[in-house]
Amino acid sequence: MFNLVLFGPPGSGKGTQSGFIIDRYQLIHISTGDILRKEVGSETPLGLEAKKYMDQGMLVHDEVVIGMIGSKLDENQHVNGFIFDGFPRTVAQAEALDNLLDFKGNPINIVLSLQVGEESLKQRLLSRGEVSGRSDDNEEVIVKRIKEYHAKTAPVAEYYKTKEKLVDIKGEGSVEEVFTLLSAQIDAIIEA
Ligand code: AP5
Repeated sequence: MFNLVLFGPPGSGKGTQSGFIIDRYQLIHISTGDILRKEVGSETPLGLEAKKYMDQGMLVHDEVVIGMIGSKLDENQHVNGFIFDGFPRTVAQAEALDNLLDFKGNPINIVLSLQVGEESLKQRLLSRGEVSGRSDDNEEVIVKRIKEYHAKTAPVAEYYKTKEKLVDIKGEGSVEEVFTLLSAQIDAIIEA
């Protein structure tokens, strides 16, 4: 089994690159943002609660998100592996993920961290906002999401660095160029 965390700030291309990665490597895509937006769209109690935080660019509580991941892992036994997109986003989430995966004997193999400058991030998200319909793709909320990233999510990179699992990837350049860099790292592990 191959387990990958695709890490990076809002707008760094996690969702875009996940699409290419799952096509080539047949991994199960777990995007906590997508799962939460589905809950919001269905107006479930979880979705209505999460919406309050998402609309403000703040993270949803750890317990909620960790519970969602546990269910997804249980639903997908006997698979090639998982790509985690937008999770973990706090050190507590990273520890919980390690516990869940260690219990199954299939730890995280690598964390690929997309590096994109802040101006590019804002521009990408503002452009996406013109078509996405996402309630968090507007200037005010984008600034808060990036702030929340630095405060709570950036320490996750340090967590994986100490475990020697973190690899920085240049996330600027064409989508194809970024995918080439990512797949070279994945191939190196799969072929080892
Ligand atoms: P989430 O959906 O995870 O949002 P995010 O991390 O802010 O990331 P995005 O999906 O906005 O960006 P991305 O990195 O996937 O980039 P994309 O490929 O779309 O989370 C939303 C909210 O849910 C959070 O704020 C929080 O409230 C909650 N949440 C989710 N997970 C949580 C968790 N674990 N814990 C707590 N709360 C959680 O690309 C962006 C744009 O750039 C696109 O238009 C794309 O076409 C373009 N683009 C991509 N690559 C390139 C390139 N190489 N060159 C030019 N343009 C590019």
